[in-house]
Amino acid sequence: MTHTDYDMMIKQARAIVEGVPHLSANLANLSALIYSSMEDINWAGFYLSQGDKLILGPFQGKVACVEIPYGKGVCGTSAAQDASQLAPDVHSFQGHIACDSASRSEIVIPIHCRGKVVGVLDIDSPTVNRFTRQDRDGLEKLVAVMEEKIFGSVFI
Ligand code: SME
Repeated sequence: MTHTDYDMMIKQARAIVEGVPHLSANLANLSALIYSSMEDINWAGFYLSQGDKLILGPFQGKVACVEIPYGKGVCGTSAAQDASQLAPDVHSFQGHIACDSASRSEIVIPIHCRGKVVGVLDIDSPTVNRFTRQDRDGLEKLVAVMEEKIFGSVFI
């Protein structure tokens, strides 16, 4: 069982983005923070909305697919349904898009700006059933801070 200290991660996230008005710099640093704060993960990063597609943003991990149509895979499902997705076994997730063949479970949280989905946070693990409801709750709180501190002040 892995436990992430989300209070600590969120405190660090606030400090990292405070006063930084650069979207890609903030997302790059937050992907590094997430990647180094969570155990047993092999990919952490962002996809950003462009029309009805998600486009690869800053991340940590192996090379990943660049475009994901809304509704496809775990990320596209999260964006289209505007709902966090917990895929305990990606092989059982209808339409899962395999970027790193090592990935076995995945969690995706939608990110909003002015009530609209503008992207997703995506985290993969090489372990089946890695992510819990506690992870989902903690990551949704992290995304809420991002929405307030980053996406509240940029127009994308
Ligand atoms: N597996 C994702 C694609 C992105 S990678 O995991 C980085 C999906 O099914 O949406």
